[in-house]
Amino acid sequence: MRIILLGAPASGKGTQADKLGARFGVPKVSTGDMLRAALKAGTPLGKEAEKYMSAGGLVPDSVVIGLVEERLGEADARTGFILDGFPRTVPQAEALSALLQRLGTPLDGVVQIDVDRELLMERATLRRTDKRSGQIYHLKYNPPPPDAELEHRADDREETVKKRLDAYDAMTAALLPHYQRLGLLKRVDGVGEPAQITGRILSALGKN
Ligand code: AP5
Ligand code: MG
Repeated sequence: MRIILLGAPASGKGTQADKLGARFGVPKVSTGDMLRAALKAGTPLGKEAEKYMSAGGLVPDSVVIGLVEERLGEADARTGFILDGFPRTVPQAEALSALLQRLGTPLDGVVQIDVDRELLMERATLRRTDKRSGQIYHLKYNPPPPDAELEHRADDREETVKKRLDAYDAMTAALLPHYQRLGLLKRVDGVGEPAQITGRILSALGKN
């Protein structure tokens, strides 16, 4: 199972990557999570990335490509992976395709999770994450248990979410025709219960 989840900020990539990863026993590979972990650890890479992330822009291609090359070379990614938030630009997609060719492991598909912009804003601003487990919650749609240690992402304030949505339209939307041309793109309606959306992704991939 080697797939890419494509979608705007807060479309549900992380939520679905967790479910699909658990179901197929393959890791979720999220460049956003990796960058936030570097930032928390205070590494030079984390400090460099923060400049772009806090402004709602994209981190330079060379930085994220390096992270993904290293991560996909690890043993647990050999049988598959769910890529969440990578690639985000055409050069990233080309670097990934060269890497997978070297590893001899082609993609099974690219799934676009489609959600209206208005709903995305609500999903992002009311998202909370458990600090300890990384579990993703939503104050309205998926309320956290009382003992969760909640964190509000710094880039989930309304103004920054708008910039992230603009960055998606300007850069990442170009990946849709790119993967369409390669015959890999499947589009899935991202509105509904999370479990329902997992079902749609599995049928789009012919895996259920
Ligand atoms: P990243 O962490 O990847 O953020 P993103 O793409 O903006 O996506 P999100 O994590 O915000 O949303 P999601 O789609 O995972 O949704 P989720 O499942 O949490 O990137 C952050 C930053 O890092 C970027 O801005 C950039 O600076 C940098 N970066 C990362 N990768 C990069 C790259 N490749 N190149 C360059 N820069 C990069 O769901 C959202 C909310 O909705 C949650 O509260 C959830 O509970 C709720 N929800 C989920 N599904 C449903 C549903 N079906 N119904 C109702 N609510 C739902
Ligand atoms: Mg995410």
